[in-house]
Amino acid sequence: MAKDPLRTPFCEMMGIEFPILAFTHCKDVVAAVVNAGGFAVLGEAMHTPEEIEADINWIRSRVGDKPFGIDLVLPASAPGAESVEDILAKIPAEQKAFADHIKKKYDVPDPKSAEALHQWGGLNQEIARAQIDVILDTKVPVFVSGLGSPAFMIPAAHERGMKVFGLVGKARQAEREIASGVDVVIAQGYDAAGHTGNIGTFSVVGEVCAVAGDIPVIAAGGITTGKHLAAALCLGAQGVWTGTQWLASRESDVDMIMKEKLTKITADDTTYSKSVSGFPMRVTKCPWTEEWASKDAPKTLPSPYQMLLSSSYTQAANDHRREDLMYDAAGQGVRFVTELKPARQIVFDMVEEALETFEAITGAEA
Ligand SMILES: Cc1cc2nc3c(=O)[nH]c(=O)nc-3n(C[C@H](O)[C@H](O)[C@H](O)COP(=O)(O)O)c2cc1C
Repeated sequence: MAKDPLRTPFCEMMGIEFPILAFTHCKDVVAAVVNAGGFAVLGEAMHTPEEIEADINWIRSRVGDKPFGIDLVLPASAPGAESVEDILAKIPAEQKAFADHIKKKYDVPDPKSAEALHQWGGLNQEIARAQIDVILDTKVPVFVSGLGSPAFMIPAAHERGMKVFGLVGKARQAEREIASGVDVVIAQGYDAAGHTGNIGTFSVVGEVCAVAGDIPVIAAGGITTGKHLAAALCLGAQGVWTGTQWLASRESDVDMIMKEKLTKITADDTTYSKSVSGFPMRVTKCPWTEEWASKDAPKTLPSPYQMLLSSSYTQAANDHRREDLMYDAAGQGVRFVTELKPARQIVFDMVEEALETFEAITGAEA
């Protein structure tokens, strides 16, 4: 094969070797993936501006001039400057009672520690603004908005030489983001871990590629193998954005109980539920999600109320390492996460399998 199929225009644009983008909450994973020739983005939605700045400095000290990104969530529904206590006071009695019922039924203990920003139910517009100021001040190479439009900060980012990636679940949304000036669109399908839309990865990637023109499209949702990477490129994407597989990397700071669990489960062990954050979100099934899916459950609340309601359960499950209660975001590709590997190995295995896949299809050597 004359041309390396993995060397996409996105690789040239970013100055990276492989079109593999990792989303992670662990800065060690960011450094490992970037130094292996991929691209990585640190999720900082639940961090204070000071923590974000310290993490950016740490990553720079490990990767030098190589590019990386920071991801925040910018939900339009985030309250102005209300405190967590103000929001908690507005949670209706029916939903509070149902959360208490789950707590009692499954013997959920109280959390041991204070909840970090009460998960991101504690995120308000004021905190989000301060987070963005740090991103702009430190001129992080790439800013990614995982939820909500980044349009308002694109001119300021571009003035500083930064790039902005938008994550979308529909072609219409992609058109809006492209019109507002994003440099790259991540088209994510229903298969994905975390907050995601209701269109499958194969369909949404194709639809977004059809409207994106010259803007690179990155495919996301359920991608965990080199075959998935090859398929994404065949659909017209210029790279893949993946989250689940890094949870089980050696560098990841996810609890070993959860890591082991992720290597054993399949797509059927995940669920698409509003019970965690108020937005539709793919997570591993657990008593909290199953109870809220039962016929006796009240309606879930919108964000940020549902997030605050679930945060005590989440924190307790993690603090007490209760395997029966623990859950995490996980995509439908989790079946192929079968062992704990160094992040660098995950990158290389995906690359090798993608190249083998192209060779098998074309009969030529890459
Ligand atoms: C544990 C976990 C936490 C996540 N948290 C965020 C987040 O804070 N912000 C965000 O934009 N995306 C978040 N995501 C979604 C990822 O950015 C990515 O879109 C998704 O994982 C892709 O699907 P995949 O997991 O099937 O590869 C999270 C994913 C996982 C697995």
